[in-house]
Amino acid sequence: MNTEFPHLFSPIRLGPITLKNRIVFPAHLTNFAENHLPSDRHTYYYGERARGGAGLIITEEQSVHPTDVAYEKLIDAFDSRVIPGYLRMTTEVHKFGGKILAQLNHNGQQGSSAFTRRALWGPSSVPDPLFREIPKAMDKADMQEVIRGFCLVAEHTIKGRFDGCEVQSSHSSLLRQFMSPLTNKRTDEYGGSFTNRMRFPIEIMTALRRVLGKHHALGIRLSGDELVDGGLTLDDMKKVAANLDELHLIDFINTSTANFHNLFMVEGSMHVPLGYNTYAAAGLKEVVGVPVFAAGRINAPAQAERILTNGQADLVCIARGQICDAEFANKTLEGRHQEIRQCIACNQGCAARTGLNRDLGCLQNPTSGREGIFKTHSLQKAENVKKVMVVGGGPAGLEVAKEAARRGHRVTLYERAEKLGGQINLLARVPNREEFSDVIRNQTQEIEQLPVSILLGVEVTPGLVEGERPDVIVVATGSEAAPSYLAGADQSHVLTFYEVLAGREVPGDNVLIIDDIGFHQGTSIAEYLAYLNKKVSILSAGLYVAPDLMTTMDIQLWYRRALDQGIEMITNSIVRTIGSDSVTIFNHYNGQERVLNDITAVVLVGHPKPREELYYQIKGMAPEVYRIGDCLAPRKMEHAIYEGFKVGRSI
Ligand SMILES: Cc1cc2nc3c(=O)[nH]c(=O)nc-3n(C[C@H](O)[C@H](O)[C@H](O)COP(=O)(O)O)c2cc1C
Ligand code: SF4
Repeated sequence: MNTEFPHLFSPIRLGPITLKNRIVFPAHLTNFAENHLPSDRHTYYYGERARGGAGLIITEEQSVHPTDVAYEKLIDAFDSRVIPGYLRMTTEVHKFGGKILAQLNHNGQQGSSAFTRRALWGPSSVPDPLFREIPKAMDKADMQEVIRGFCLVAEHTIKGRFDGCEVQSSHSSLLRQFMSPLTNKRTDEYGGSFTNRMRFPIEIMTALRRVLGKHHALGIRLSGDELVDGGLTLDDMKKVAANLDELHLIDFINTSTANFHNLFMVEGSMHVPLGYNTYAAAGLKEVVGVPVFAAGRINAPAQAERILTNGQADLVCIARGQICDAEFANKTLEGRHQEIRQCIACNQGCAARTGLNRDLGCLQNPTSGREGIFKTHSLQKAENVKKVMVVGGGPAGLEVAKEAARRGHRVTLYERAEKLGGQINLLARVPNREEFSDVIRNQTQEIEQLPVSILLGVEVTPGLVEGERPDVIVVATGSEAAPSYLAGADQSHVLTFYEVLAGREVPGDNVLIIDDIGFHQGTSIAEYLAYLNKKVSILSAGLYVAPDLMTTMDIQLWYRRALDQGIEMITNSIVRTIGSDSVTIFNHYNGQERVLNDITAVVLVGHPKPREELYYQIKGMAPEVYRIGDCLAPRKMEHAIYEGFKVGRSI
């Protein structure tokens, strides 16, 4: 028994199966499928989390019917060719004492006919707010076909030696669409009253119960609160949960909240509070006897233990926390929880990649989703131990130093500032972005366990390199503000966003931000200045401000905060000239110029340039010289860390 986290590490029964602990790796899309079948990447990925100690793994959704193609790489679980992949996955998870459930789903109207050129199926002719496509209102024959699909897939999971199934009835699912008055407008016995709206979900669960029998667990994932006017509330969901429990159709209830009106609440970013959905689990737990799972920004053992101790839930889902650190559970169990690489809910490597139809990864953990390629547990020590000089103590430099040292090289890291972290120290200063500094905390605590010599306040010069005679130099000196292309940018009231973050005073009260990047830099500065009670406008050449926030689930909340704080957004416009107290802008759609008057300060959020001078000075001074991260080409942080990792693994 782990005395520090006794609840987290106590076994629990889910119907016929017993889990060794309360830590769940819940369902999430990975895009690892190949030809719509599970791939070896799934096996490595889930196996790694089971090896890391998770008590229960729930796979990504397994589609039950050909009408359900919500995205390209969905697994067609109605095809019996999934079974060999299932067997590989389940064998790997069972090897480490974990249990594994398959999540079964039909996404209903939350999809696009672009994939199949067949009409979507839904309870009624109501479009989803994200896909905006009218589905065919299902007739009774369609419903029977879907039930048969669920049963067929359940049979495949039995043959694939799963321990049971979880039915997705939460944010993206046909079942919730039938339950919700928002999407179910039927006038037959499947619509209208609560009993009628529950009829189809209950038929599915009843049929599944029959197929899965006594030896396989069956649970359901419910959206505990749709969080939208006219949708299902927590009180409604209590009735749903109690109904399913009374009918003995479920062995557990997993939770989330929201739907596609507010997808940002499904994978809440760092702008959403820790444990933001726990209230939904706690509410449902009040009315059922079966175990209830909490999910949503549970990313530290103490927080997880508290949820269990307080009786808010019986199990905790930790999705991104275990994407980021597959050993979350074992580190906690072994009293090494300080070593957990804590997820910062940036969404940049996970949700943003899958949303762009790429494979899932993690900003902080380059091996996530690539466990098979990077052979996480059979690290090849370097044959020739080399003297490695890493220049720059930002995320790229720290990552390369760590990996090179793990492989046995003699590594010295030079940072010209008195502190590690590079630009993270600046960007974590703005409101709601503080969690970014955990990246440096995480990397530093990993590096401190390795024989890396860290020299702070040391500027690397060609002379220093000549004296040290390293075998390998890795230049990770980052990026800096590039000279502005704008007329009038050389005036004293025009600042770069780096200068603002570094604490330079922003003159006056009326600030215009010119955002060329379209990610968090511009919006963060806008919020920071608004908090300082300045009147802030942000200008973008795009159709809307900060389009890249869409990928990280931050756009809606940014808009809400911006409107609350009176931040003005000027779109479709470029700057002609910056005057002493005015800025002339040009709308490239209507072709008209406009003068913004009484501007006291202008903040430029322009694309940076690589800090590459040193690289060119010392290139050729060692047998191997690399440059990585922003010093190579300024991009997002996940690229810097990934490149650091890859170079560290290759030298
Ligand atoms: C990239 C990504 C994809 C997800 N896809 C699904 C999904 O297909 N089905 C599901 O039930 N939940 C899905 N989720 C939600 C997670 O199961 C979990 O509830 C959510 O990430 C919040 O937990 P966390 O803060 O521990 O990450 C997804 C989450 C992420 C990050
Ligand atoms: S990419 Fe960011 S949010 Fe996603 S798992 Fe990694 S640290 Fe967490």
